[in-house]
Amino acid sequence: MEDLSADYWNNRYLTNNFGWDVGYPSTPLSEYFQQLTDKNLSILIPGAGNSYEAQLLFELGFTNVYVLDFAEKPLEDFKLRVPDFPESQLIQTDFFNYTGHFDLIIEQTFFCALHPELRGAYTEHMYRLLKPQGEFVGLLFNDPLNTDKPPFGGSEMEYRKLFSKLFNIIIMAPCYNSIKPRSGKELFVIMQPKAELLG
Ligand SMILES: C[S@@+](CC[C@H](N)C(=O)[O-])C[C@H]1O[C@@H](n2cnc3c(N)ncnc32)[C@H](O)[C@@H]1O
Repeated sequence: MEDLSADYWNNRYLTNNFGWDVGYPSTPLSEYFQQLTDKNLSILIPGAGNSYEAQLLFELGFTNVYVLDFAEKPLEDFKLRVPDFPESQLIQTDFFNYTGHFDLIIEQTFFCALHPELRGAYTEHMYRLLKPQGEFVGLLFNDPLNTDKPPFGGSEMEYRKLFSKLFNIIIMAPCYNSIKPRSGKELFVIMQPKAELLG
C-alpha cells in the first residue's frame, strides 16, 4: 500500500502527476452551483486540490467558501490563480483534524483518494462538519477502480450502506452530466445529516 501522506500528494502536484485534475470546474458541480441562490452559504471543499470549483463559486459571488487540502502546492497555486480569494479561507490541514460547521460540503475525488479503511471516519467527520440542515453534495465513483492505490473504487450499494448510517440520502443517482472520461462511472449525491446521532 502506498503512503498517502501530505508529502505523497504534494509530490504528485510538484511532479505534474495529477491526472484527476480536469483543469476547470467539472460540469456536474458547475451546473449545481449555478442554481444556488444564497450567496452567503458557508461552503467547504475538502481535499480540494487546485479547486477550480472554489474559483467558480468565488467568481459567482459566494463569499464563504473554504478550500481545504493538506498539500501545500495546490493551495499556493490557487493563491496565484485567484489572488483576491481570502487567504484565511485557504486551509492547509488534515481533513480529519479540521473542525467547523458548514451549510454545504462538496465532494469530488477526495473520497476515492482516501484508503477505504478511512471511509467510516470520513462519513463521521463529514457529519460533524455539517450544520443540522446542511448538505453533503458531490460525486462518488460507481466503479471498482483500484484496490491498492488511489483512486479507490466502490459501488452504489456499498455507499448507501455506509452513508445511510448517518445521512438521509436525498439523491444518489447516476450522474447525467459527467465530464466525458467519467461518464457512466459517477453518482451524483445529495445527503443531509440525520438528527443528532453523534456527540
Ligand atoms: C485526487 S485529489 C482530488 C483533488 C480535487 N478534489 C480535484 O477534484 O481535483 C485528492 C486530494 O485530496 C487531498 N487529501 C488527501 N488526503 C487528505 C487529508 N487527509 N486531508 C486533506 N487533504 C487530503 C490531496 O492532497 C489531494 O489534493
